[in-house]
Amino acid sequence: MKKALVVANWKCNPSTEREVGKILNEVKRQIRKITNVQVVICPPFLFLPFLREKIKNTKIVLGAQDVFYQGGSFTGEISPKMLKKFGVKYVITGHSERRKLGEDDQIINKKIKSLLELKMNPILCVGETKEMREKEKQFEVVERQILAALRNVKKTLLDNLIIAYEPVWAISTNKGKLCSSDDIMTMKLFIKQLFEKNFGAKISEKIKILYGGSVNDKNIQLVRSAGIDGVLVGGASLNPQKFILILKAFS
Ligand code: PGA
Repeated sequence: MKKALVVANWKCNPSTEREVGKILNEVKRQIRKITNVQVVICPPFLFLPFLREKIKNTKIVLGAQDVFYQGGSFTGEISPKMLKKFGVKYVITGHSERRKLGEDDQIINKKIKSLLELKMNPILCVGETKEMREKEKQFEVVERQILAALRNVKKTLLDNLIIAYEPVWAISTNKGKLCSSDDIMTMKLFIKQLFEKNFGAKISEKIKILYGGSVNDKNIQLVRSAGIDGVLVGGASLNPQKFILILKAFS
């Protein structure tokens, strides 16, 4: 059976190493019973060293929330090679919260290219805003974002790519405002077809598609019923009890 992929995106939380330790101790205590799930935690960069120590001999894998596309004279940035050498396997790329800060398709394309060339796993986030959904342009948006991010990427490298469909209007709603299971499934099929058309049937079959946006322990069964390969979890991943219930739903 194909392993589900559950990715925790801690965003700019928590504030201290002590709090990181508390979350991890609880997750580690309960994670032994979880099977068939690849668990990835993406903490703020600052906590990566602490996390690497803490997750030794567990099934948790290191992820990052972003990356720059190269090393050199780029003040404040972190390169793909640094992350790889450090042991980071998955990197969230093109998250809507970064796009809002000015990251454009061209930059995302460069990041995806350098990650794939290093055989790392970019998690490319795509999704429409509320305005675009109201105009029923969600498919157009997702198609444009995917094709722009993969412009001139070698087909042979696409095996390691993961797509996360995250409608912007469904992120961090706190009220569990969720995309319906039918809408998630329709988007998943659309993305599969898009890959088939542009990169061939083999890649389309292999590509993993996650859903993200207000996923929690209460709605996880609904999300899972859309037949996705896993989830990208923000808020609920900071609560170990909720996070474990999400993992159990896939186990
Ligand atoms: P959320 O965040 O689960 O808090 O909505 C998801 C994400 O932004 O990746």
